[in-house]
Amino acid sequence: MVDAAQPVTDDFDPLAPETFESPHQLYRELRARCPVAYTSAYGGFWALLRHADVDAAARDPELFISSVRAVVPSDPRGIRRPPLNFDAPAHTPFRTALERTLGRERLAAMAPRLRAHAIAQLEPLLRSGEGDIAKQFGTTYPAFVAAEWLNLKESEVWQLAETASIWVDAWRRQDAETVTDKSNAMYAMARALVADRRANPRPITEDPASSLLAATDHEGRPLDEELIVGALRQSLVVGLVAPPILLGAIAVHLARDPGLHDRLRDDPALVPPALEELLRLYAPYRGFSRTVSRPVVLHGRRIVPGVPVTLVYASANRDESVFSDPDAFVLDRPNIGRHLAFGAGPHRCLGMNLARLSLRIALEELVRRVRRIEVVGEIEPTRMPELGPQRVPVRLLLA
Ligand code: HEM
Repeated sequence: MVDAAQPVTDDFDPLAPETFESPHQLYRELRARCPVAYTSAYGGFWALLRHADVDAAARDPELFISSVRAVVPSDPRGIRRPPLNFDAPAHTPFRTALERTLGRERLAAMAPRLRAHAIAQLEPLLRSGEGDIAKQFGTTYPAFVAAEWLNLKESEVWQLAETASIWVDAWRRQDAETVTDKSNAMYAMARALVADRRANPRPITEDPASSLLAATDHEGRPLDEELIVGALRQSLVVGLVAPPILLGAIAVHLARDPGLHDRLRDDPALVPPALEELLRLYAPYRGFSRTVSRPVVLHGRRIVPGVPVTLVYASANRDESVFSDPDAFVLDRPNIGRHLAFGAGPHRCLGMNLARLSLRIALEELVRRVRRIEVVGEIEPTRMPELGPQRVPVRLLLA
């Protein structure tokens, strides 16, 4: 819904064809001349491009709320699942219940198993020497990571990897029928998890379903079972969308910068800071959205409730007023901690530490086993709301 105050002309076109390099040129221009930009695409939304505005909006959940639209384009059925699509106080117990399952000790215990999964999931690509690293390793390894977090059975991992992959592809094509079909399949998995953990509860710091079932809301009541199912449905898929894109982007980067590939293999201590800089450069979620709770004027533009506002994390991460030489890979930037690939504020990525750990292990194993990566075909970019490559055909020369 666009009220009379909405602009009649578009400041940019998010549907314009993209390449691996774009849309950073566009974002740079918008940051300079139109930092709060409007487009009528996807029903109309605003985009915040500058780091300062994106960061401030993410940290102001009373003005920029998540419960109306948390993503553009969003689920046409209007389904809202916690924690992503909820505001406090309803958001808090879901967030707390999931967060306590990702403590330092649990992550440390998971690390060797994640490494074993990384090695096993890389193996088919190494054996054939060629393939699509975003689709193959990039899709299966994160499914094993999610399975470790949620304590899924081995047989369920393959089902999850396949269902989520078809769901994501259908989402990008806006194929509503397949989206609904696969979403229902993931709902069924979430329901089965709830039923199983109700019968066989596990320690709350080690199992998301058990933790949600044991949690209470701000009035001390147990959480609504349908919302627990929704939170688990979100948890099943949330770690499977960004990692394939990021792993694909990392492969392209290493193919273009073999010197970095060698340095990372020779000195694995460089992998964590390199990963952080790669996250800054290739933030796989271009942005998440909010809606204002009251009319507000930002850089002279009047934003009203009902029109989504996308916080463009990918643009903020290359804002030249924060990161000098923003398109360059610079190891150990002094202010790398300010990148927004995981967002900021109360909705900042809940799986951030698991994502970092699993990606670090993936990158370590990749540079250890592979001497050189060559891109051997067309890189296929993904679509809104993600950013980056969804298909990266590579040849791998073994170490
Ligand atoms: C490269 C990997 C990942 C990236 C770049 C990423 C990025 C993000 C971002 C930007 C948000 C903020 C949403 C907002 O501003 O509204 C977010 C939220 C979230 N992420 Fe991640 N994520 C990654 C992996 C994961 C993984 C592995 C998990 C699960 C273990 C996860 C779980 C979540 C959840 C549950 C939320 C919603 C948090 C809330 O609304 O309170 N993410 N993620």
